[in-house]
Amino acid sequence: MNFADATSSRAGAQAFMRAASPTFLENWPPALGRLSIRSTKIRLPDVECRTLLRYFRRRDLNVFGCGKSREVSLKVIAKENLEGLRARLDKCLCAHYRGAYLRLGSRSPKDSAYGKRRGFRVVNGQKAISVLLTSRERVRFDLSVSILADSPVYMFLRDWTDIAPWREFRCFMIGRELRGISQYHYRGGQQYNEIMDHETEIRSAIASFFPKFRDACHLDDVVFDLAYRGARDPILIEINPSPLSGLSDLCLFEREHLNGEFRFLRGAVSS
Ligand SMILES: Nc1ncnc2c1ncn2[C@@H]1O[C@H](COP(=O)(O)OP(=O)(O)O)[C@@H](O)[C@H]1O
Ligand SMILES: [Mg+2]
Repeated sequence: MNFADATSSRAGAQAFMRAASPTFLENWPPALGRLSIRSTKIRLPDVECRTLLRYFRRRDLNVFGCGKSREVSLKVIAKENLEGLRARLDKCLCAHYRGAYLRLGSRSPKDSAYGKRRGFRVVNGQKAISVLLTSRERVRFDLSVSILADSPVYMFLRDWTDIAPWREFRCFMIGRELRGISQYHYRGGQQYNEIMDHETEIRSAIASFFPKFRDACHLDDVVFDLAYRGARDPILIEINPSPLSGLSDLCLFEREHLNGEFRFLRGAVSS
């Protein structure tokens, strides 16, 4: 299975959904949700998905220009075509008093230019829609596959939770065994002294949390992301398709090396 097959035909999209959708937030068993971040689920009807997709197509034709004029267009589009969605988001956001992180059940719009510039904490429907509409690729891809496969789309607002990058770890479960833990942010060779300073505590916090995750999880093979919180249990951020599926980034591992290690990039050790 690969990402290109997913948008090439209905059969490809359906195969992709079979592999990936069990990890989507809307398909989690409640016990898994209890290990994660408090969320509100919002249905995104087909008509709204198609409006978003139409916007992406027109954006690629550069209909909206760039810079300020694109931002104005974003507001107009949201007002004209996505007013219902904006109102629903505003209403749901009342339950998230510190703001929320917005994502689809499948993935998040973390490739949003607007989010990167102004932050991803959304406090109103207008900002949420701006984040969605400025996703470079992820939102368009995920919506296209869902529409092609005839699958419903859900969005989630999740309680805003500050997560320092060093505290994020990608973990691997194969055959219901913990088969690896990796530093999550590794691109660019980023090293975190904090991980080195807390190596033993991090490993043991994840190892003692693991049985709770394993017992709550509906999948035998899965990639799962955690935020380390010191003495408290780590919090589950999300789950991703099997480490063996080719659909998930294995961070500092290669498939054949998933043997239970804890991997992170070590800084130079001073003598
Ligand atoms: N509730 C939240 N509050 C703040 N930041 C979050 C929250 N949830 C996730 N993040 C950050 O956003 C990133 C992407 O979110 P995630 O749910 O993992 O979606 P994706 O599937 O796009 O990786 C995470 O790696 C984390 O750094
Ligand atoms: Mg993630």
